[in-house]
Amino acid sequence: MIAMDPDELERSLREDVARCENLEELEAIRVKHAGRKGAITALLRGIKEASPEERPRFGAEANRLKQLCETLIEEKRKALGGDMPPDLYVPPVDGTLPATNGLAGHHHVLSRVLRQMTDILHGMGYSPARGPDVELEYYNFEALNFPAEHPSRDLQDTFYVTDDILLRTHTSPVQVRFMENAQPPLKIYSAGRVYRNEAIDQSHSAEFHQIEGLYVDTAVSMGDLRNDIAVFVQELFGPRTQIRFKPHFFPFTEPSVDVDMSCFGCKGAGCAICGLTGWIEVMGAGMVHPNVFRAVGYDPDRYSGFAFGLGVDRLGMIKHGINDIRLFLDNDLRFLHQF
Ligand code: FA5
Repeated sequence: MIAMDPDELERSLREDVARCENLEELEAIRVKHAGRKGAITALLRGIKEASPEERPRFGAEANRLKQLCETLIEEKRKALGGDMPPDLYVPPVDGTLPATNGLAGHHHVLSRVLRQMTDILHGMGYSPARGPDVELEYYNFEALNFPAEHPSRDLQDTFYVTDDILLRTHTSPVQVRFMENAQPPLKIYSAGRVYRNEAIDQSHSAEFHQIEGLYVDTAVSMGDLRNDIAVFVQELFGPRTQIRFKPHFFPFTEPSVDVDMSCFGCKGAGCAICGLTGWIEVMGAGMVHPNVFRAVGYDPDRYSGFAFGLGVDRLGMIKHGINDIRLFLDNDLRFLHQF
């Protein structure tokens, strides 16, 4: 007696194997098709009942099905981890399935602010430069015209590693490192982490980020500095943002200035963001001091240049209305998910 049409049997076998999800089910499928009471076994038994002319074709077909069943079951057994110790088997993941939750990762707000700023500087023709976080005292101070034992070093409370190695207190050492290995004209920026041994509060961190800008050529003026800083803050805070310079002191620039920008919150009228002054201090800047040029072997009579250094964290706070600098590094997801 022929138990089932071979084509029908093959289709049912393939469907069962395709749907099977674990080794127990697979064994049940094997028994169903090729076990003692299985359909393929019944087919094989039916060979002798076929007519002598039909028998060879029928036998070949039944044996093909038996072989197919063994192959399909063996392949599936391997796919289900049948060769592995059960505790090591991890079911295959279908990467095409939609995600089950909507929580995608995103860049930290500080990284985004930093990226925005460096993108602007790229657009203005500045190229990136890098320097180490653990820096020689020479590059952080001496080559930048901070005399040894001079009180100006106290402006930036320093974490020393040894007598002449420290954690850089600003990104300005990158200026010196870059100029040592390049000739003007040059226009670079350097972004990175800086460290100061400071009391931490809402607007002071012991570990924060700066971006340094430097432009050196034969006839660079204070007007060029003013122009580039204006373009930068207007790209970041909007086209009507104004800037103003206030005289200041940095050992490595002369003249030196502190740069204020008009408060974007009140457009200069005075509000809580700017402490009612209408202005917000955003960076230090100035014309590169001749002694810095001398330290890198440039002729100060031939070259002039400007430099500026801004606090990324402070500008990020202003841009996003964040009132405590410590939030940036706390890693509190309730804060980070807002951006
Ligand atoms: C400097 O660090 C100079 N190197 C900047 C400079 C570069 C001047 C090139 C001239 C030419 P200052 O110490 O003012 O300057 O720091 C620059 C900016 O870093 C400040 O405007 C402020 O935004 C930020 N900053 C300073 N101290 C802290 C702090 N403790 N926490 C967070 N941000 C700070």
